[in-house]
Amino acid sequence: MSDSYATESRLPGSLAQLRTAATSVVLPSMLKCDFGHLADQLAMLEEGGAQALHLDIMDGHFVPNLTYGFPLLEAMRKFTKLPLELHLMIDNPGPYLARYRDAGADGMTIHIEAVADPTEALGQIRDLGAEAGLALNPPTPLSAIEPYLDACDVILVMSVMPGFGGQSFEPVAVDKVRQLSGRLSAEQVIEVDGGINDQSIAQCAAAGARWFVAGSAVFGMSDPAAEVQRLTELATKNQA
Ligand code: DX5
Ligand code: ZN
Repeated sequence: MSDSYATESRLPGSLAQLRTAATSVVLPSMLKCDFGHLADQLAMLEEGGAQALHLDIMDGHFVPNLTYGFPLLEAMRKFTKLPLELHLMIDNPGPYLARYRDAGADGMTIHIEAVADPTEALGQIRDLGAEAGLALNPPTPLSAIEPYLDACDVILVMSVMPGFGGQSFEPVAVDKVRQLSGRLSAEQVIEVDGGINDQSIAQCAAAGARWFVAGSAVFGMSDPAAEVQRLTELATKNQA
């Protein structure tokens, strides 16, 4: 048996390429995948045309839930060539960034609510050669991240309170995306995470978001990879 399920025929783009792509990108949230068949799930997504994966890292402190750590990230890295975007729902992310990068992270997004000042951590992520992202929760105003926008490659607008998949989309995210989209450079991308479905993805795409994290919408279907494609087309069709 090969030690990798990744196919040689497909060469996925980097997160930097996806950030400036003309079309929308749907990133499956692996929180909802079948972990009993992880390698098969990764192969299915990669062969089915997914462009990048979103990994939800939770510490049981910043959010009231725990997910996976370094060994699982290393395992995923081994079985897919797709870019891995880490959503770090953890307090005090600084000391772990280099280890996440070594374990296979291509991008790391920290939360504004988890740090007093994100400047150092965002700079560290870029220095490590990864994409630097900053997330804000639904109740957090845009003014909280405004001073740090230049240090970001990705702005992650949460459309649910982080911690769990399967929650309902909070429309406050659409207004934030709309306000942000006029303020960013062409090199920066707005990502939305939580409760993404046909309606919310179309609204957020029209407001200016280009990356969409989808957990339940993708893994609740019998053919998750086909659902990634369908949602990607729907978002692209509705782009502002
Ligand atoms: C929530 C996570 C999301 C979540 C998305 O804390 O950040 O990525 O898994 O799942 P759905 O699409 O089910 O809302
Ligand atoms: Zn997430």
